[in-house]
Amino acid sequence: MSVEITENGEVHIYGRERLGDRPRIGILTSGGDCPGLNAVIRATTKTAFWLGYDVVGFRDGFEGLVDPIRYQVLSPRNTAGILIQGGTILGSTNKGRFAARVGESGRVELDPKLVGRVAETIERMKIEGLIVVGGDGSLSTAQQFHEAGIPVVGVPKTIDNDLKATAFTFGFNSAVLCCADALDRLHTTAASHQRVMVLEVMGRHTGWIALHGGIAGGADVILIPEIPWTYENIIAKIEERRTLDKHFTLIVVAEGAHLPAGGLVLDEGGSQNMQVRLGGIGQVVAERLEGMIEQDVRFVVLGHLQRGGGPTTFDRVLASEYGAHAVRLITEGKFGQMVCSDPPDICHVPIVEAVDQIRTVDPGGSAVQSARAMGMCFGDTPGYQNPFQTTPGKQ
Ligand code: F6P
Repeated sequence: MSVEITENGEVHIYGRERLGDRPRIGILTSGGDCPGLNAVIRATTKTAFWLGYDVVGFRDGFEGLVDPIRYQVLSPRNTAGILIQGGTILGSTNKGRFAARVGESGRVELDPKLVGRVAETIERMKIEGLIVVGGDGSLSTAQQFHEAGIPVVGVPKTIDNDLKATAFTFGFNSAVLCCADALDRLHTTAASHQRVMVLEVMGRHTGWIALHGGIAGGADVILIPEIPWTYENIIAKIEERRTLDKHFTLIVVAEGAHLPAGGLVLDEGGSQNMQVRLGGIGQVVAERLEGMIEQDVRFVVLGHLQRGGGPTTFDRVLASEYGAHAVRLITEGKFGQMVCSDPPDICHVPIVEAVDQIRTVDPGGSAVQSARAMGMCFGDTPGYQNPFQTTPGKQ
C-alpha cells in the first residue's frame, strides 16, 4: 500500500487506486468494530460501481474526514475477497474528536468549527453522500452532520443489537454464534467436573447477546440488565438441576446486568470514549456463588472474541443488503436516513429516531417466554414458572 502526501501536507491517499471524474460516494466505519463491516464496504462499492459512482473510503472513522483528510479510493478490485473478513479495512475508533454521545442517551454537541471543516471536505471532494456505518454513538454524530447540512445516510452496526428502529444490527448474529460456541465448549468441561460455569458476555446496557447466545448454547441461567435477579434464585436453580441428576450448571451473564444490591460492575481501566467501560461481573458472580455453595465455580470473560473474526452467513446477507440500500438512499437523495431491517424487508427511518434511546430486551417478549418455558432461569424466581399461564388439558 502506498502513501502519498500532497504539497500542503494535508491529504493522505492510501492504495493505488485514484479518483476518476464520476460522481462520488463516501463511506466510513466508526465505533467498536464488528463482523460484517467489510461486507458493507464491499456491497457499497459494488453497488456504487454499477450505478456509476466512485467510492471514497475515509480512514479511522470520522477522524479521516479532517486534519488531515485520510482516505482510500475503493473499487471492486481492491474490495474483492473482503466479504468474509472480520474487522474493517478502513479502520475505526470509538473515541476522539467526534464523540457525540455520553452515557446511554446524552447528546454532546460537536464543535461547530469541526463540523464546518467536515462540510468543507465533503464539498471539496465532491462527495454526493456520506455513508456512516456505526452504532448509536456514531449515528448521533451523523445526525449532527445532517443537521449541519452534510449529506449523510446511516447503516446500523453493533454486536449489542441495541439500536431502536431496526430488528437487527449486523454483527449481532456473529457475536451470538461466538457465545453459543463458548457455551458448547463450557458444557463438556462443566459436565466432566460437575462445576458451575459463569460466562460473561458483552451487550452494554442490554441483554440481547446473553439472551440469544444463552438460548442457542443451552444455558441454564441467563442474567440480563432488563430482569432483576438474586443469588438465592440462582442457587435454587442449581439445586433443582441436582434433583434432575444434572450436577453442573451453565450461567450466562451480560456485562451490563445490575447486581442484586444495585449498581453495575465497571472495568477499572475506565473509558476514554465518554461511555462507562463495563466488565467484571462474571468474576463477581462466580466468587459470590462459590462462597454460597459446595460446588466449584469458574468464570470466563468472552470479551473481544465476540467482535473478532468473520461474519456469519446471516450477517453477510444483512450487511450486504444494508450496503446496497445505503447507496440507493443516496441516489434517491434521502439524507438523514438510516437503513434498517424490518424482516423480510430492508427499510429506512430518520437517523434521529434510531438514536434517541436504546432498544432493550422485553422481559415479557417471546424469546424470554420461550426460554422460561424450557426451564431456563433468569434469576428472578426461585423455581419454574409457567410463562404461558396455562394448565394441561385446559384451553
Ligand atoms: O458496543 C460494542 C461493545 O463491544 C460493547 O458490547 C462493549 O461494552 C464495548 O463495545 C467495548 O468497547 P471497547 O472497544 O472500548 O472495549
